[in-house]
Amino acid sequence: MYSEKVMDHFNNPRNMGEIENPSGVGTVGNAKCGDIMRIYLDVDEAGVIRDVKFKTFGCGAAVATSSMATELVKGKTVEEALQVTNKAVMEALDGLPPVKVHCSLLAEEAIHAALWDYAERQGIVIEGLREPVADVDEIVET
Ligand code: FES
Repeated sequence: MYSEKVMDHFNNPRNMGEIENPSGVGTVGNAKCGDIMRIYLDVDEAGVIRDVKFKTFGCGAAVATSSMATELVKGKTVEEALQVTNKAVMEALDGLPPVKVHCSLLAEEAIHAALWDYAERQGIVIEGLREPVADVDEIVET
């Protein structure tokens, strides 16, 4: 059912944890399954993602997609990171079962939410980046 890459990223997640004083943080959730994903970004002066970490309260596919998504955006500029879609994450993982596609969407949304937070803090606009649909920070923290 799951590719070897999915199992590898589930068993040995890359970039799990959090970043102190991050440049941007994004938290998203899926109302149906209740899973929550948070991405922390450390962006340097040139707009390059120097470090990225995630925390995921969710299913195995959500953990694997968080792990792969962080690997894909690390070292990229914020504009390049915006191009990391859920499709790219799924391809990098050699696919996901159809019922798990939404988990990869959560990873894309979490990255976008973190980029949005970064842009807000910097007072800049990242071309093509849309405001996250829902901010679940309140839900998570209460
Ligand atoms: Fe919802 Fe995986 S089942 S994120």
